[in-house]
Amino acid sequence: EISACLVGSEMCIRDSPLARRLAARRSPRRQAGRIRTENEPSHGLPTDTQSIRQAICAKRVRQDAAPQRTMLHFARRRKARGNREEPERMREHPQIAIDGPAGVGKSTIGERVAQRLGCLYIDTGAFYRALTALALGAAIAPEEGAALAALAERAAIRIVAPTVSDGRQYTVLAGEHDLTAELRTLAVEAAVSRVSSHRAVRTALIAHMRAMAEDATVVMVGRDIGTVVLPDADLKIYLMTSIEERARRRHRDLVAQLGAMAPPFEAVRDDIARRDAIDREQMRPAADAIPINNDHLEPPETVELILEYLRQRREQAAQISLAEE
Ligand code: DC
Repeated sequence: EISACLVGSEMCIRDSPLARRLAARRSPRRQAGRIRTENEPSHGLPTDTQSIRQAICAKRVRQDAAPQRTMLHFARRRKARGNREEPERMREHPQIAIDGPAGVGKSTIGERVAQRLGCLYIDTGAFYRALTALALGAAIAPEEGAALAALAERAAIRIVAPTVSDGRQYTVLAGEHDLTAELRTLAVEAAVSRVSSHRAVRTALIAHMRAMAEDATVVMVGRDIGTVVLPDADLKIYLMTSIEERARRRHRDLVAQLGAMAPPFEAVRDDIARRDAIDREQMRPAADAIPINNDHLEPPETVELILEYLRQRREQAAQISLAEE
């Protein structure tokens, strides 16, 4: 796995044997800029995380760096698409997939990106949570895959814009019943991983998710959006945060909420590790996803980075259209 960041016209890639091979290779398209591994000298451009953050904030991720970034991304996309060489277009209403494990800030980032684009934000975890809430009400156990799938088929779960101004990101309906307040109860929290592990449940709910992304610009967040739900998404992001940092953020929130009653840091970290283990099956990043590690990025910086990748993707698609005319 290569992780990369752009600084000016230079791309810095985390050092690995593959990264070194890439950096050693030269091609005419790459000569406009330069790819280097993080251990090489930077030719005066910033390399430390702080400077990279500042560069991103100051929007110094420049357009002239786009060919390097998109080349790597497109090579990945081609590989993921079975090395088909035909040019990539972009939908009129692009689908943006944001995946990643629990606690990496997907919902905050996803909602803000959607706000900036003025489009629909779909948190797919809410589908699994809504089904879990319905199942608890109907006394269906999290192990009863077939009964849960049947419930998912008939429940008509939908996500719509907030119907109440209580700070919620969206309203989740099953028919006309508003389930939003039930999504984050302890009972739902305890059962949702098991409910979402049944293949039949996933198949039923994924059909609802795909229907929402038809003919609309969407930012969809989850675990398997880029791999399963929208495998042809126009932009795929895989958000990552180290387990220590996720535990630190979660613990800070719990201390703010519960004060001295908050569980110890170690317990919070173990709980996150346990959830990762349960969700692991769904947590594979798409081969053509752009990885973003946000350990040292604030949400607005991550949002800017994603919007920058989208601009690059749009530009590349426009260049392809022009070249074809
Ligand atoms: O992101 P979240 O915590 O709201 O997700 C709730 C549960 O749903 C969690 O156990 C992972 C699962 N989930 C999934 O399996 N696939 C998705 N696309 C989204 C969530």
